[in-house]
Amino acid sequence: MVKCRCGPAYSGVPEHLPVIGSGENRYPAKVIQQTLNKPGGTAHSGVPFWDAFLFTRRRNQSMKRMLSGIKPTGQLHLGNYIGALSKFVSYQDEYEMIAFIANLHCITVPQDPAELQKNLQDCVALYLACGLDPKKSTIFLQTDVKEHAQLGYIMCCHTYMGELNRMTQFKDKQAHGEKNLSGGLYTYPSLMAADILIYDPDYVPVGEDQKQHVELTRDIAIRMNNRYGRLFKIPEPLVPKVGARIMSLTDPSKKMSKSDETNKGCIYLLDDLKTARKKIMGAKTDSLGIIKYDPENQPGVANLMQILSSLSDNRPMAEIEAEFAGKGYGDFKRAVADKVCEELEMIQGRYNEIIASGMIEDVLNEGAAKARALAAPKLETVQRAIGMEIISK
Ligand code: AMP
Ligand code: TRP
Repeated sequence: MVKCRCGPAYSGVPEHLPVIGSGENRYPAKVIQQTLNKPGGTAHSGVPFWDAFLFTRRRNQSMKRMLSGIKPTGQLHLGNYIGALSKFVSYQDEYEMIAFIANLHCITVPQDPAELQKNLQDCVALYLACGLDPKKSTIFLQTDVKEHAQLGYIMCCHTYMGELNRMTQFKDKQAHGEKNLSGGLYTYPSLMAADILIYDPDYVPVGEDQKQHVELTRDIAIRMNNRYGRLFKIPEPLVPKVGARIMSLTDPSKKMSKSDETNKGCIYLLDDLKTARKKIMGAKTDSLGIIKYDPENQPGVANLMQILSSLSDNRPMAEIEAEFAGKGYGDFKRAVADKVCEELEMIQGRYNEIIASGMIEDVLNEGAAKARALAAPKLETVQRAIGMEIISK
């Protein structure tokens, strides 16, 4: 049995295919050549390549591909769930879903190592607890597929500084006068372009704040296709109509974010239910006293309505308005809190089971193998097209 990072057993190669190696180390020659034709290019001392190969063949043929990632900076919150994670889950039956944990992106700002490690584990467990199924989706850690970083550098060399200067996330941090911002934070949209383009996805489901980065990714892809011939598929961002920007409960002019200073404006998926309920009951509203979807004049109420609607299969706002006509904010907030707590309870129940099962390592190993079977040949193609490799005749 060949193991990878304590991962699953290698399942073997069908007899009729040309193989490399013998006994437990037999691999299909074609896959090895496609994925590992660089010196020293073994992935984690032997990943289940054949499984990966089957996966990519099976899922590629009929399905459109989707890819997205979440930074494990801090705990995942309701905004991540509504704007991104729950959408990944609902897409995984219809699309080939690649969902990774962007652990390279989170070190663009300083991290406490022990805390980061805990967040990483929680992030994977929450992906699964929220309903991502490793049999349908490819789930992996960005650093387990080293091709991301290498293509990231290549992308960086094809991104203009003017483009990076226009990225609002960096501009916002700069405008806040934050000192010692890292070079990684500045160039991270190029790495994000690599994360995406290396898999040729059709769609990239993200919340509103990431749309600009996907648009830059498209520009880089078009630029490189024009320069080197058709290398990349041009992906489309997919931003949900409702819930793409869940706002802070204490300040509905700011998005709900992991870096909430007071912690009161952000509901973490692992908040205990009492805390979550208290945060919703204390959410900032207004003095108008009517439940109406009017983001401009009643941003706090509109935000709670978005949360309620998103967690109830995108229930129309008019229906919610009708249900609460003549009722006060107390009743309305209680209904939102009930819905949120119901969802959190379900997620947390599964989260506890997943942590106890010890399955995370296996899921990541399998996911990395599947991802690498796609990423390695793509990087090779790009490097050849650019002229970076010596090709023997
Ligand atoms: P991040 O936590 O920045 O890695 O974001 C991961 C995903 O969640 C991205 O697709 C974001 O656009 C989405 N997201 C983050 N915050 C929110 C929010 N407040 N509302 C909706 N989506 C969000
Ligand atoms: N930058 C994204 C965020 O901060 C996370 C991310 C990294 C991502 N690579 C990606 C999202 C590729 C979609 C596709 O939320």
